[in-house]
Amino acid sequence: MNKRDFIKKMSLATLATPLFASSILTSCVAEVADVPAKTLASNADFWLKVRSDYVLKPDYINLESGYYNIIPTPTLNSMIEHAKMVNREGSYYMRTVQWDNKKRMVKKMAAIVGCAPKNLIITRNTTESLDLVIKGFPWSRGDEAVFAQQDYGAMKVMFEQVAKRYGIVNKIISVPNHPASDEEIVQLYEQAITPKTKLLMVCHMINITGHILPIKKICQMAHKKGVKVMVDGAHCVGHFEYAIEDLECDYYGSSLHKWLAVPLGTGMLYVKDEHIDTLWPVFAEHSREPGDISRLNHTGTHPVYHDLSIENAIDYYQMLGGARKEARLRYLQEYWSSKVRNHPNIVVNTPKESHRACGIANVGIKNMKPVVLAKRLMDEYQIFTVAIEYANVNGCRISPNVFTTTQELDVFVKSLEEMAA
Ligand SMILES: Cc1ncc(COP(=O)(O)O)c(C=O)c1O
Repeated sequence: MNKRDFIKKMSLATLATPLFASSILTSCVAEVADVPAKTLASNADFWLKVRSDYVLKPDYINLESGYYNIIPTPTLNSMIEHAKMVNREGSYYMRTVQWDNKKRMVKKMAAIVGCAPKNLIITRNTTESLDLVIKGFPWSRGDEAVFAQQDYGAMKVMFEQVAKRYGIVNKIISVPNHPASDEEIVQLYEQAITPKTKLLMVCHMINITGHILPIKKICQMAHKKGVKVMVDGAHCVGHFEYAIEDLECDYYGSSLHKWLAVPLGTGMLYVKDEHIDTLWPVFAEHSREPGDISRLNHTGTHPVYHDLSIENAIDYYQMLGGARKEARLRYLQEYWSSKVRNHPNIVVNTPKESHRACGIANVGIKNMKPVVLAKRLMDEYQIFTVAIEYANVNGCRISPNVFTTTQELDVFVKSLEEMAA
């Protein structure tokens, strides 16, 4: 082996080494191996051990994990090691193993989101992933797009820009906070489709309410009408378990710095085989073989050590267990929301049925503006949330995390009850 190959092998090997020696979880997950996820969800001792993997600011209770997730210390340490390694190797790293390593991250990501590596790229966030599709879609004047008022602002704005630029027409529906059935939602989207509709955008989980939508049924309905479906899964990867291929969508974007707890600036985009060559890349790439998804992935120079941490975040997520994490997040949401749902002055803007939500929910107080509620929560009770006031939603988004305790949620429930009295 020559020196160059040796160093290259070393760079690849170092990255594959788990850096979890510092996590108490490595020993305690073995003890709960046989405990069903649903039972473990309420085991305070276990989740306190998980909490010990986080360094949290003691000044407030953080119920705003929806913007981005604080990453556990083992993943943070891994990222720091990667940054040191890249800084030591400099351009040598970038010119030798950078792309091999990124391919390894793609392979590992594809396995946890349930698709083939050939259909996945690592991006910097959901905005980049979905704008790539909205902006790169082969639009013709008069084409129509369908999406909802409850979709994320940046994507709606990109559709507006595309409408101005290419003369497309946007049809905007409104998703109810408490649907009677999946069919009610499917019909809402269906009614907005015309023979000119080409693309439908839909949130897998609506970010302002935590409402999970029946994506597969929407895709099946849309495909019967020849409409492609782009799913905004910003809040779903690492939050609850599913496989992208089972959803039957055409495009799927997510941010990995949200619930998968990868360091900031990491995202992913899934594109179905037959659409890879039809999108116009946002950043032009040199010509590639037909069907090579890397034609969409010319990110330019960026913090590659964040990409490298994807592997560590996945290892951490798998060590904790996807089913355990999903069950705990849903348990926490139902723990607090069930205590206030029937209060006459409190409005929960998230469906009650377990399969329609997970860790995120939204709550308001009658006759109190969401900004006032958020401010009072912070000033009077030291609880950090975010106020939402648009698209039929008046309340604060509440997004606890695996480090949140039920004692913290008790403080939150008491604060709501006091303010609503
Ligand atoms: C539903 C949804 N889509 C897209 C985004 C954009 O994510 P990012 O800022 O990571 O690109 C967010 C961010 O919160 C979101 O909630």
